[in-house]
Amino acid sequence: MTRFARWYEERVFNPLMDRALAAPQVSELRRRLLAGARGRVLEVGIGTGLNLPHYPAAVRSLEALVREDALEARVLSRARGTGREVVHVRGDAARAPLVSGCVDTLVCTFVLCSVDDPRAAFAEFARLLAPGGQLLIAEHVRSPRPLERALQRALTPLHRHWACGCRLDRDLGAELASRGFELESLSPPPDGVLPFPARELLCGVARLR
Ligand SMILES: C[S@@+](CC[C@H](N)C(=O)[O-])C[C@H]1O[C@@H](n2cnc3c(N)ncnc32)[C@H](O)[C@@H]1O
Repeated sequence: MTRFARWYEERVFNPLMDRALAAPQVSELRRRLLAGARGRVLEVGIGTGLNLPHYPAAVRSLEALVREDALEARVLSRARGTGREVVHVRGDAARAPLVSGCVDTLVCTFVLCSVDDPRAAFAEFARLLAPGGQLLIAEHVRSPRPLERALQRALTPLHRHWACGCRLDRDLGAELASRGFELESLSPPPDGVLPFPARELLCGVARLR
């Protein structure tokens, strides 16, 4: 990543995302999704730490897998606010420096639109999960509606540039299934969490078949 790209992501894009992804309807989605987190938890791409207030007491330890050398200041201050320790793990969604089968709960929210290879990330998640482990996932995905899908496809090349690599038209449900996961969607499905062109969500608890 160039110095400008890092500056843009840290100073421009992340603060904008922090506001958009802290909206009440997104917080409600986080609360519902994370209520089932337990044991040793690894959060992938923790961003500014917006999930932190929603982790329940059943979480024994929390590690944050990020590409940066340190956690963002906002993660640390949110962690202090919740009284929870967050351990920094430097790595990538597709390559975590952790032994196989060591994670009880993987958390991945609004990250996979921008990773280079989501299939490789799902394969890594499958490697990391302990037997009976769970992946709590919330991602915006390709729309099932043909017109919206066409618009997402048309917008993605431009959108990727200003939104730090975010693709609007990824079929993450198919990729999740192809890596052996079965998804139990949140019920009732969350409604109106993000606006178009990112309003179609993949959201729930995924377990290895
Ligand atoms: C839109 S933010 C979402 C942050 C947070 N997960 C949330 O729910 O608020 C996307 C995050 O994914 C991270 N990210 C993107 N590609 C990644 C990768 N390959 N591995 C790990 N994190 C990644 C970015 O650094 C950024 O923090």
